[in-house]
Formats: sequence, C-alpha cells, structure tokens
Amino acid sequence: MDIALVTGASSGIGLAIAGRLVEMGYGVYGYARDHGKSAFRHARYTAVECDVTDTPVLLERTEALLRETGGLRILVNNAGVGFFGPHAAMAPERIERMVKTNLIAPMVLTRATLRHLAQSRGYVVNIASTAALSPGSHGAAYGATKAGLHQFGQALFGEVRKSGVRVVTLYPDMTRTPFYDHADFEPDEDHGTHITPECVADAVAQAVDQREGTVITQIVLRPQRTQVARKGPSQKKKD
Ligand SMILES: NC(=O)c1ccc[n+]([C@@H]2O[C@H](COP(=O)([O-])OP(=O)(O)OC[C@H]3O[C@@H](n4cnc5c(N)ncnc54)[C@H](OP(=O)(O)O)[C@@H]3O)[C@@H](O)[C@H]2O)c1
Repeated sequence: MDIALVTGASSGIGLAIAGRLVEMGYGVYGYARDHGKSAFRHARYTAVECDVTDTPVLLERTEALLRETGGLRILVNNAGVGFFGPHAAMAPERIERMVKTNLIAPMVLTRATLRHLAQSRGYVVNIASTAALSPGSHGAAYGATKAGLHQFGQALFGEVRKSGVRVVTLYPDMTRTPFYDHADFEPDEDHGTHITPECVADAVAQAVDQREGTVITQIVLRPQRTQVARKGPSQKKKD
C-alpha cells in the first residue's frame, strides 16, 4: 500500500485531502495538534499528534512513521495559519507562528522525507495560496510565507526532477474553512464566491494521478466571483 502524509489533517483543506487520498487507496497519516476537531476515522487513516512548528517533535514523529511504513509516496505540506491586519499592528508572535508553520515546517519535513520520495518516485504537494502570486491588503506577512513556499517548490522541482520526484504547488483563493475563525472577514457563503476544500482535494487527486513523465507543477483555484463577507466583533473567535 502506498503511503501519504498530510499535515494539518484535522480541519478544512487537509481533512478533505486526507479523505480523498484514503478513497484513492492510500494509507494516510495525518499530522495536527488537535484531532478531536474531526470525526474522520478509517482503517487506512492514522491520526498523529504533531505540532509542526516543534522541529525536534516533527522529525521524531516522521522518523517513527518512516520506520513503520518503510516508505512514502506523497507528502502534502498543508498545515497553515493566517493572521491579517495592518502590519504595524501584527503581534511578533503571530508573524513567527506564520513563518514557522507555513514555511519552515514544509521545508524541514520535505528535507526529512525526500530520500523516501525519490525511492518511490513520489510527490511533494505544497498548499500555497493565491496570496503567493499577488499582494493582498493586510496580509503582508502571510503572503510572504506563501510566496516563500511557492519559490521553494519551484526551485525544489528543478533540483529533484531527475530523481523522479514530482513537486506540485496549489494556489487556492478564498476557501470556506475554519481558517477565518479568528479573522474579521471570511469567504462569502454564496457558492460562486469561494472554493471548497473538496475542490482543492480533487485538484490534488488529479495532480498525483499523472503518468510518469508528466508533472502538473502548479494549480491555481479561483472562485468565479470575488466577494468577501465582513464579520461583526461577536462573530470573531478568540485565539
Ligand atoms: N481557507 C483559505 O481560504 C485558504 C486559501 C489558500 C490557502 N490556504 C491554505 O490552506 C492550508 C489549510 O488551511 P485551511 O483553510 O484548511 O485552514 P484550517 O481549517 O484552519 O486548517 C488548518 C490546519 O492546519 C493545522 N495546523 C495549524 N497549525 C499547526 C501546527 N502548528 N502543527 C500542526 N498542524 C497545524 C490545523 O490543525 P490543528 O489546529 O489541530 O493543529 C488544521 O488541521 C493552509 O496552509 C492555508 O494557508 C487556505
């Protein structure tokens, strides 16, 4: 059985990707800090408690996983956080958390698994964002982490393509998930104005199902129309 590792599998896009890969027959390991948020259970799904910003723990969990499975076919770097607002008001702790979660963890985890992915001629799938491609207002630091992930994926593919590893970067626009729980805005509920986690999972499924020799390196997902819903202070969750 081929093995996939999905970070941030307890919610939103990562949860949808984990479910989709299980449906495709993969043995899936999902990393998150709190799996209690999700009711997803399956014989081929293993929930692993792992804070990806804790590098020693991330490496220890991943070494244990690789010892247990003996190999890895797909790594999905999906875990991410976003904080938005004027940069002058952005708490340093939040900036650090975004950089560690969205950029450092994917680079460390990719490094830890690359040899196994080369053996399986497998895939690194990075969940970036359209924020990586064009500057968004009040998201300078978040956009910088996603632009970094974009650049990492492009350079990595150049480096590892000869070894058979495929590197895929996805750039979803606003997707309806708990990602916006702490923000003062969210994707509008009108179905034409947002992406769904299942659409992102479908795109991943397509990217990892190509013949050897063809690589889908980038996928941009945008809603038909743009419309953001503003929230009142009472609708915003505390950290
Ligand atoms: N929603 C959007 O509009 C959108 C658009 C473009 C790109 N993205 C990207 O898509 C990815 C998934 O976001 P989402 O929308 O699905 O948000 P979400 O529902 O909030 O899910 C985020 C996931 O990341 C995990 N996570 C966060 N910090 C972590 C940590 N330190 N260690 C381990 N896991 C951690 C969370 O699990 P725990 O909290 O349980 O640890 C959760 O499973 C992110 O990289 C995000 O930047 C989202």
